[in-house]
Amino acid sequence: MKANVIVHRDFQVASIDPRLYSSFLEHLGRAVYGGIYEPGHPTADEDGFRRDVIDLVRQLDTPYCRYPGGNFVSAYDWQDGIGPRSERPVRLDLAWRTRESNQIGVNEFVDWCKKAKTEPMLAVNLGSRGLDSARNFLEYCNHPGGTYWSDLRRKHGWEAPHNVKLWCLGNEMDGPWQVGHKSAHEYGRLADETAKAMRNFDKSLELVVCGSSHSDMKTYPDWEAEVLNECYDSADYISLHMYFANREKNTLNYLARTTKLDRYITTIGGVIDYIKAKKRSKKTIGISFDEWNVWYHSNQQDKDILAKNEWPDAPHLLEDVYNFEDVLQVGGILNTFIRRSDRVRIACIAQLVNVIAPIMTENNGPAWRQTIYYPFYFASKYGRGSALQLITDAPTYDCDEADDVPYLDASAVLSDDGQTLTFFVVNRHPQNALDLDAQLDGFANARVLEQVEMTHPDLQAVNTARQPETVVPVKVENAKIEDGRLRAALKPQSYSVIRLS
Ligand code: AHR
Repeated sequence: MKANVIVHRDFQVASIDPRLYSSFLEHLGRAVYGGIYEPGHPTADEDGFRRDVIDLVRQLDTPYCRYPGGNFVSAYDWQDGIGPRSERPVRLDLAWRTRESNQIGVNEFVDWCKKAKTEPMLAVNLGSRGLDSARNFLEYCNHPGGTYWSDLRRKHGWEAPHNVKLWCLGNEMDGPWQVGHKSAHEYGRLADETAKAMRNFDKSLELVVCGSSHSDMKTYPDWEAEVLNECYDSADYISLHMYFANREKNTLNYLARTTKLDRYITTIGGVIDYIKAKKRSKKTIGISFDEWNVWYHSNQQDKDILAKNEWPDAPHLLEDVYNFEDVLQVGGILNTFIRRSDRVRIACIAQLVNVIAPIMTENNGPAWRQTIYYPFYFASKYGRGSALQLITDAPTYDCDEADDVPYLDASAVLSDDGQTLTFFVVNRHPQNALDLDAQLDGFANARVLEQVEMTHPDLQAVNTARQPETVVPVKVENAKIEDGRLRAALKPQSYSVIRLS
């Protein structure tokens, strides 16, 4: 089967914001305790942070990390996580029905970010708390000194301000499950007033307001229109979330769900344009897709844990073990973000460690890369620069999710120095290889630099602590350039990265 592509050096969709490859850590399950933090672990550093995890996070080169939630943030008091550890209260976390020891708070998280070479993206609680807590939190974090909150931070041992620039105003406030859930009007008003107060402190902050938790919410997409109607002038980004599942065990249908993701982005782009016009504004709000991933493998285990009603410490919640099929899905999701990088400026894989995450750990044991680590790694490493407009002509299929879904899912990125062109390609076809034939316009003398492929005879294959390399990328060499065209054989159900220079 042939898959034709045309790419032109000058036909650029957008300059990709590197924050497209951001991540997320919530006080949930073993993300923090047993994930990034485990004093006593053989690799723990002087602050109790696992060096093996830091090493895997650094390799992902994820520019920002959202924290501390998630649903957790909507009943969280940031003051519980500051000051001497021995005096911090143990609380019940109402979102995940867990005991929260508060041994990690904002100061430790910022320290961890420095070690992991990422920047904090902090969320404020607009569920059970509000404007006053948010402005105090901001002053505690970012003011140099000489005020009650900033001097308290200094007294706690963090002399220099954290200078956090990117803030989320609440989390999934459209969701009835959220502590302090609000109507769009209530939330829009609160977000606007909170944003204005935060900007009175620092005009240069970048503020993200809550959009829909997913595109099947009853309030979607009126939610976005109402919220932005209240706070368009004070916000910079609207957040969207989406999780993917293959509960019906239908691979082609599952992989077609990125078409729904694409429609979601198009719809909210339209809502943004509508409110922009209504407000006669010059500014275009961006999309912060600050939660996305595959999430379903652990559902039954989670139900069982929560049914016990025991308020455990750091339980094994949301510990999805990803398979090879999920590599294809995550590759397709990242391709969608790259193709829509004109709208989607920030995106956070949810989450980073143990909880629906590319990195897994065993308590007092190893850390390893899940299957989905790799497409994220390659996109983060090579998907920086300009997204190019691809014209594709490939065979398609129909399924419950959508009709005319191409078997080929592709994106292409030209590096900032114009020297390297990288294709990220998924062949969704279960049996047939695709003969990729890409016409390269404006790339005279291009040569193949590298070709990496992920494929596996078993879609259910996983990486585990004992067998961490069952699903890994391998170098292949079938791509070649002839007469200004890139030709490559894409195996059935495969993910490939092809780099040209
Ligand atoms: O990432 C897991 C949860 O998914 C988050 O806490 C919440 O925001 C979303 O529903």
